[in-house]
Amino acid sequence: MTTIVVAMGLGNEIGAENQLLWHLPKDLKHFKEITTGHPVIMGRKTYESIGKPLPNRTNIVVSRKKDWFEEGILIVGSLKEALKFAKKMDEDIFIIGGGNIYEQTIDLADKLEVTSVKANLKADVFFPEINPKIWKKTIETCHEKDEKNSYDFCFQTYERKEKL
Ligand SMILES: NC(=O)c1ccc[n+]([C@@H]2O[C@H](COP(=O)([O-])OP(=O)(O)OC[C@H]3O[C@@H](n4cnc5c(N)ncnc54)[C@H](OP(=O)(O)O)[C@@H]3O)[C@@H](O)[C@H]2O)c1
Repeated sequence: MTTIVVAMGLGNEIGAENQLLWHLPKDLKHFKEITTGHPVIMGRKTYESIGKPLPNRTNIVVSRKKDWFEEGILIVGSLKEALKFAKKMDEDIFIIGGGNIYEQTIDLADKLEVTSVKANLKADVFFPEINPKIWKKTIETCHEKDEKNSYDFCFQTYERKEKL
């Protein structure tokens, strides 16, 4: 199963200036629970935004740079290679962004784990449209903002109705 994990605002916004748009510790915990123990695939910019390998997950980072090396991650030159490595390691693999990588993988993912953040924020990176003809929301659990989590948000699971 290939799953995309994303947190987005009401206008599908996901990032600005290579950072996330919010601080939601409950979402970070959810992300950790979903992905720990499995390979995660990300774009080079998302890796640089996180700044270090995510622990207890094989970090596969996609980049076209030829002379780039970082300890603790697997760098590959194409998405195809990233998917091949990840699938050799595990049945369940996770694509964790950013916008550029989501655009290239939404059509091949089986499942979307979306955190829908109830805010409209200024951004320079967006998630593609989730086409309701293709994706069916199967689970939703919502949380209200509190002293540590600054927006209301819902965890949503989308499953593919049909292969493209
Ligand atoms: N809200 C969320 O859930 C979430 C999750 C992740 C990221 N984000 C945000 O998204 C933003 C980053 O997204 P982004 O779209 O700018 O960048 P990105 O998707 O993280 O990374 C893009 C880079 O990945 C490499 N790449 C992409 N496609 C490739 C391919 N087919 N083959 C080889 N390399 C490829 C290239 O690296 P090189 O330039 O090195 O060749 C490209 O510049 C940040 O603001 C981040 O905080 C948000």
